[in-house]
Amino acid sequence: MRDNRTWACESRHSYDVAKEGYVNLLSAQKSGDMTGDNKEMARSRRDFLNKGYYEPLAQAVTQSLAQYSAHGDSVLDICCGEGYYTAYAAEKLNRRFYGFDLSKSMVRLAAKRKISAQFFVANIAAIPIRDGAVKAAFHLFAPFHAAEFRRVISDDGVLLSAIPGRDHLIGLKEVLYDTPYLNDEKEPQAEGFKVFERIRVQGEISLDSREDIDALFRMTPYYYHTPSRGMKRLEERDSLSTPIDFVIIVYKKA
Ligand SMILES: C[S@@+](CC[C@H](N)C(=O)[O-])C[C@H]1O[C@@H](n2cnc3c(N)ncnc32)[C@H](O)[C@@H]1O
Repeated sequence: MRDNRTWACESRHSYDVAKEGYVNLLSAQKSGDMTGDNKEMARSRRDFLNKGYYEPLAQAVTQSLAQYSAHGDSVLDICCGEGYYTAYAAEKLNRRFYGFDLSKSMVRLAAKRKISAQFFVANIAAIPIRDGAVKAAFHLFAPFHAAEFRRVISDDGVLLSAIPGRDHLIGLKEVLYDTPYLNDEKEPQAEGFKVFERIRVQGEISLDSREDIDALFRMTPYYYHTPSRGMKRLEERDSLSTPIDFVIIVYKKA
């Protein structure tokens, strides 16, 4: 149930709509900032993605959503981050878009995009959506929860999940590490789903400012696991070229 300022559920809990227009639906009354990505990570991600470096992925996701859902269907961005992909798809497709993330900082930035999508703070372990209400869900580089994803998707619906491909960001890793490894393309444990299709999206990006290199580095897991030698090498770079490589796995219910 909803009016402009408050949402209420059947158990009579009520949830205020924040001034940016999102709603915090975490069942524990704790800030999402405690566990999800923080403000600094959220801004880095937004600044980097807004420059279009990962647009080939946004395009491929949007194209698949167009293929697997129809006018007016509900589409959910699971762990939507700061909303770049939701916004990209919502600009092109006439669907009812929803996006949620555990991080309040991320959801706040997503809501500020002022697109026709409803964003909320929630946890993948308890998604506040009715069984089978979603025709297509997409899930990019985030934790997986097969049972909850399966519950909210309709029986004829799809789940698109993206993982980093083998060569993703190898150009960055070559600067950071003495022995860089390729990604192992480990797919999620998607119990209750079957793989319908795999779509590979590849490209090459060139970053020509310290600011962009830094923003990219901050949004990768390498930010937390790089020896100081590698950090120093990266700090000395004013430009960087690297392959980008993603695999979108299209699941249907088994
Ligand atoms: C690597 S980011 C990806 C964000 C977005 N999908 C994108 O590609 O730009 C992972 C996101 O998952 C969120 N996250 C982590 N654990 C979560 C959970 N249990 N429930 C909901 N979101 C979660 C983080 O806050 C973060 O925004």
